[in-house]
Amino acid sequence: MATTVDPAPEVLAAFEAAKGFMPADEGLALYAAAAEAGRLGLPLLEVGTYCGRSTILLADAARRAGVLALTVDHHRGSEEQQPGWDYHDPETVDPELGLMDTLPSFRRTLHRAGLEEHVVALVGRSPQIASVWGAPLGLVFVDGGHTDEHANADYEGWAPHVADGGLLVIHDVFPVKLDEFTGQAPYRVYLRALESGAFTEVSATGTLRVLRRTGAGI
Ligand SMILES: C[S@@+](CC[C@H](N)C(=O)[O-])C[C@H]1O[C@@H](n2cnc3c(N)ncnc32)[C@H](O)[C@@H]1O
Repeated sequence: MATTVDPAPEVLAAFEAAKGFMPADEGLALYAAAAEAGRLGLPLLEVGTYCGRSTILLADAARRAGVLALTVDHHRGSEEQQPGWDYHDPETVDPELGLMDTLPSFRRTLHRAGLEEHVVALVGRSPQIASVWGAPLGLVFVDGGHTDEHANADYEGWAPHVADGGLLVIHDVFPVKLDEFTGQAPYRVYLRALESGAFTEVSATGTLRVLRRTGAGI
C-alpha cells in the first residue's frame, strides 16, 4: 500500500474498548486499507458488524475520506457465538427473547465513539441484502459467518461490487489448521479470490488479508 494511515488515539481507544475479536495489529491494517480505499470516493462495506469493534475503524476512515461506511449483520450471532460455544458472550443475549441481539451494543459503541452519522447499519441476512445491492464499493470487508456456505455466499454476494482498484479484505484467514476448532472457510475464499484472477494480494497481517481488484469478475 502506498501510505500507512493510523487512526487518532481516541479512535484506537474506542476500538480497543469495544467488544469484539479483532486484535490491534489487524485493526491497524484494516484502517490503512479503508483509508486507502476511501480515496476512490465510494462507500466502504463490512459484512459482520457484531458489536461494532471493526466498524469503528471503517467509520473513522470513511469520515476522513468523506464517504459512508455500511455494515451488514442480522445481529443474531454466528454459529460459534451461540450459547454453549467458545465465543459466546451472555451479555449479548436479549433477556426477553432469549436470543442473541448485538444491535444495542453496536449502537452504544458507535454513539460513544461519536461516529454514528458516518455509518449505515444494514440489519438482515447478508445474501438477502446483497441480492438487492447495485452500487460499486471502494472496500468490502468480509467478517461474517465462517462456514463455507456463509463465507462463499458473502464472497459471491459482495465481491462483484468491489470497484476497479478497490479492496477486498478477508478476516480469519488460517492457512494452517491450528486445532480441530480452526475454521478454514475464510482461507478457502481467500484462495478462491486469488485464483479468480480478479484480485491480487496487497498485504497480510495476522489473519487479515487485503486484496485489490486488478481484473474483472470474481
Ligand atoms: C466474527 S463476528 C464479526 C466481528 C466484527 N467484525 C468485529 O471485528 O468485532 C461475525 C458476525 O457476522 C454475523 N453474521 C454471520 N452470518 C451472517 C449472515 N449470513 N448475514 C448477516 N450477518 C451474519 C454474526 O451475527 C456476527 O455478528
